[in-house]
Amino acid sequence: MRVGVFDSGLGGLTVVKAIQALIKGAELFYIADTAHAPYGEKTPAEILQYSIDITDYFIERHQIDALVIACNTATSAAVKTLREQYPELIIVGTEPAIKPAIEQTRTGNIGVLATPATLKGDKYQQLANDLASQKDVTLFEQACPGLVEQIEAGEIDHPQTYQMLEAWLHPMRENSVDTIVLGCTHYPLAADVIRKIMQKKVTLLHTGEAIAKRLLGLARERGHENRGDIRVTLYATGSLDHNAVTLLLGYSPQINTVTI
Ligand code: DGL
Repeated sequence: MRVGVFDSGLGGLTVVKAIQALIKGAELFYIADTAHAPYGEKTPAEILQYSIDITDYFIERHQIDALVIACNTATSAAVKTLREQYPELIIVGTEPAIKPAIEQTRTGNIGVLATPATLKGDKYQQLANDLASQKDVTLFEQACPGLVEQIEAGEIDHPQTYQMLEAWLHPMRENSVDTIVLGCTHYPLAADVIRKIMQKKVTLLHTGEAIAKRLLGLARERGHENRGDIRVTLYATGSLDHNAVTLLLGYSPQINTVTI
């Protein structure tokens, strides 16, 4: 099985890590579209175009069988169109883990951190309305403009990042939020800072593992045997922090430059 995975940068590697832990015998190609990052502050039309261009590249150059949109923002803007335009591809998208949050919360107060584009998108609005009406919960939604840039710049443990998160998380801390949905694949990389600011024990939910399981299930339906090694080739359309990649994946990979 040949799998294309993309995100605007480092964030999707949190998904790659989960895929690597579960899926064998596959060839995986990852694009960090850093030339166009951050996606979360672009228009839906721009994000859709980047997503189509990347999918075309994967199909033409790597003959992929499956596409993983390792990005909540791109899923929101593009998954519907991509499914219509590429019916032969297995397509797995990323959505904020609100459902498990609603199942797990004890205080009924849930935080949702995501990019401005994800929170504004119809897909999120619909998901949040449907799920929140099923149980008596309050969602504390917070867009985090600038956080992706801090993470890409390797400035997670930095006073500015701390200040931004302190302001966003303050209402959640004051209102006994016990579960926070990390609705952007970059945000697990800031998990330690988020935990520190929340002070009390808080459950942070992200979707890497669920995506890997979904991909494996769909791949098996198409006859993937899931044996052997998984190979990963990394590409970036702009700069990508090699140290951060090494830290994340646990080895030092080659990062190839690509223009899309
Ligand atoms: N990692 C992406 C997500 O899950 C978006 C990052 C960005 O804004 O570029 O939403």
